[in-house]
Amino acid sequence: MHRHGGFGGSLSFGLILFLCAVFITVPSALAWSKEGHMMTCQIAQALLEPQASEAVSQLLPEYVQGDLSALCVWPDQIRHWYKYRWTSPLHFIDTPDDSCSFTYSRDCHDQHGVKDMCVAGAVKNFTSQLLHYREGTADRRYNMTEALLFLSHFMGDIHQPMHVGFTTDEGGNTIELRWFRHKSNLHHVWDREIILTALADYYDKDVSLLLKDIERNYTDGIWSDDVSSWQHCNDISKCVNSWAKESIQIACKWGYNGVQSGETLADDYFNSRMPYVMKRIAQGGIRLAMILNQVFGASEEGFATAT
Ligand SMILES: *[C@@H]1O[C@H](CO)[C@@H](O)[C@H](O)[C@H]1NC(C)=O
Ligand SMILES: *[C@@H]1O[C@H](CO)[C@@H](O)[C@H](O)[C@H]1NC(C)=O
Ligand SMILES: *[C@@H]1O[C@H](CO)[C@@H](O)[C@H](O)[C@H]1NC(C)=O
Repeated sequence: MHRHGGFGGSLSFGLILFLCAVFITVPSALAWSKEGHMMTCQIAQALLEPQASEAVSQLLPEYVQGDLSALCVWPDQIRHWYKYRWTSPLHFIDTPDDSCSFTYSRDCHDQHGVKDMCVAGAVKNFTSQLLHYREGTADRRYNMTEALLFLSHFMGDIHQPMHVGFTTDEGGNTIELRWFRHKSNLHHVWDREIILTALADYYDKDVSLLLKDIERNYTDGIWSDDVSSWQHCNDISKCVNSWAKESIQIACKWGYNGVQSGETLADDYFNSRMPYVMKRIAQGGIRLAMILNQVFGASEEGFATAT
């Protein structure tokens, strides 16, 4: 199974592969869970303007039938394959322990010091690759389908606060603890546990009900006044830096603060952190739509042209 990367094949073959991939190989402790990534992408896709919507449909393989969210976990599934090993450092940023800050030139590199190899660099990279789409077929250096899937995934990751975490504890991965009654770690609490507990406690385990609640909260609820500021972005480099800063600041204040390895996190932690998780998912989706609308739209006002 792991050898198949294919988007080709007949509809049913593709669908089976996809279902296998989603239900069997979801790795733990790597990224927003599949629920988090799917919601980010569903929020984004619903906000696309006609041109961007058309471009996204064109780029997706047929077997997902136009549903971007079906492939938003793909970058997690392939990150350990030989061909895609270079993508592994692109899911996160390690910042200096306890500094609670992000500086692109200091922090955006892989463990060997190669510059730009972090989630902030990746969002910029795949945004600028997608800018070539408008120019037609001339540039064959980049696979536009992959660029779309990577961008969609990494916009989720850059908004997951613990993906911009401390270096020594690997973004909370090595902080082992209990989530209510079972074993977990601090990174995974933010990737998935909070979402799953919210689903079980408030949404009848139905992701579509949770998604509707998030959508209601940004169209006509607690966040509706904030959406225009969330979307504001003229310079993708600056925006990416500020999104990463937001993440490390939430990670410091709400993720790490007061948490000891070995302890049990339960209701207090869940109730006070859930609003941040939901807001980050909403922001990731809304900002992904903003990027795709700018990149695929006809307006001259988009980001700087492709490089
Ligand atoms: C683009 O990437 C996808 C996924 O890896 C692959 O299935 C597809 O064949 C590639 N397209 C081109 C034109 O290489
Ligand atoms: C940008 O994408 C290309 C492949 O399309 C890859 O070779 C390069 O390492 C990427 N860099 C970053 C920072 O994502
Ligand atoms: C939506 O907002 C309400 C408050 O109006 C809040 O109780 C609820 O938890 C929010 N839902 C999500 C998913 O953020």
